[in-house]
Amino acid sequence: MSLMSTYPDVMEKLVSLAKRRGFIFQSSEIYGGTGSVWDYGPLGVELKKNLKDRWWNAMVRMRDDIEGLDAAILMHPRVWEASEHVKNFTDPLVDCRNCKKRFRADDEKIKGTPGTPTAQCPACGMKGTLSEPRLFNLMFKTFMGPVEDSASVVYLRPETAQGIYVNFLNVQQSTRQKVPFGIAQIGKAFRNEITPGNFIFRTREFEQMEMQFFVDPQDDHMRWFEYWKDERLRWHQSLGLAPERLHFHQHSKEELAHYARAAFDVQFDFGGTLGFQEIEGVHHRGDFDLTQHQLFSSKKLEYFDQPNNRRFVPFVIETSVGADRTLLALLVNAYREESVEGEDEGRTVLALHPSLAPIKAGVFPLVKKDGMPEIARRLADDLRRHLPVFYDESGAIGRRYRRQDEVGTPFCLTIDGQSTADHTVTIRDRDTLEQERIDAGRVGDVLRERLTS
Ligand code: GAP
Repeated sequence: MSLMSTYPDVMEKLVSLAKRRGFIFQSSEIYGGTGSVWDYGPLGVELKKNLKDRWWNAMVRMRDDIEGLDAAILMHPRVWEASEHVKNFTDPLVDCRNCKKRFRADDEKIKGTPGTPTAQCPACGMKGTLSEPRLFNLMFKTFMGPVEDSASVVYLRPETAQGIYVNFLNVQQSTRQKVPFGIAQIGKAFRNEITPGNFIFRTREFEQMEMQFFVDPQDDHMRWFEYWKDERLRWHQSLGLAPERLHFHQHSKEELAHYARAAFDVQFDFGGTLGFQEIEGVHHRGDFDLTQHQLFSSKKLEYFDQPNNRRFVPFVIETSVGADRTLLALLVNAYREESVEGEDEGRTVLALHPSLAPIKAGVFPLVKKDGMPEIARRLADDLRRHLPVFYDESGAIGRRYRRQDEVGTPFCLTIDGQSTADHTVTIRDRDTLEQERIDAGRVGDVLRERLTS
């Protein structure tokens, strides 16, 4: 449980902004919604794509020791027995016999010990109606093929990592990588969470960006663990998350997942009562997963160290970050309400890092006449070939700026009376509000330069 944060709780405002401006909608809203499942709208899908591109570039494209993979969601059911998710991926739950509601056994709102006559249901208030805790598996089950029996049960993966382990030798042999090296993938994961909530913080369907780094157990593996902790914290900072809102939390023995020898969470301060919460886990998984898969599949998953004529099962250092949860951290971190000098109405700004902003530039004719819309349209069409831009000619110019501020657009370009005479445009900076006049022919270069600086 984290302590109350000194940052304000902006979640409600973000949920409203996200819906109004087309970032995130509740799934199946017209039917009353699906619990803790969300859809990404036109701006949300761009923001999430930019975030995933930042991760893929940092983890795969910019390195020669990490390979990419896209494993299927449905896997052989034995995978989840080997990984011990069937046995261990559980939450203890209690049921109320009176109101039929279900709670986590460690829910702080439960008064007394569940299963005893004095325990009180937090929903209906009845005493003695709460069952003893029972273990509930968080994996979603479905059936493969036309027969719905126990022999055809398959699971929706609760983590993407297992797709990497079972492909360890396929990737290593096809790429001729030498240990130490990593395999990275981005993909959906599913968990039948009991206490989901806080918007997209904890959902039942989400995306993970995971990397498994294979090291020689005789190598200094803790050095790699420390290396990946540092790398991953730096990456979060490079997205613009405020350094003072990020820290590490070390897992105690009781907190460690069944596969982990050591684990640190990168936590972000979400503000309000949520406070510091995990956005990424860096785990030392030892040889647990590969050894288990060897055992259950009867296939060797050993690396052959040719120079030393040695075979071994590598240790794994895992970095596992949620795309949706990081996106929420980015929104919380970027949200500002500001007063503007000389104006009665303030403005709402999403101060997103330019590389993440869904729209890079707004293009506006000052008024809808005197040839301005034609020039502005031509400019927008020209820029669109390289960057996501938004053309807007409706309403007062101040309003149009505000609309772009609210969705994080870093620059706005305006074509005014002077533009038609001297082939210039003004470029307005979202954060400083400064406006500068530049030659229209230089707009592409200026934007590229400022977006990457
Ligand atoms: N393979 C290791 C693993 O899955 P985890 O700590 O359970 O580790 C890693 O999950 C990350 O996935 C978390 O830090 C979080 O960002 C994200 N995540 C996990 N469960 C989630 C959920 N129900 N909703 C949204 N994101 C979730």
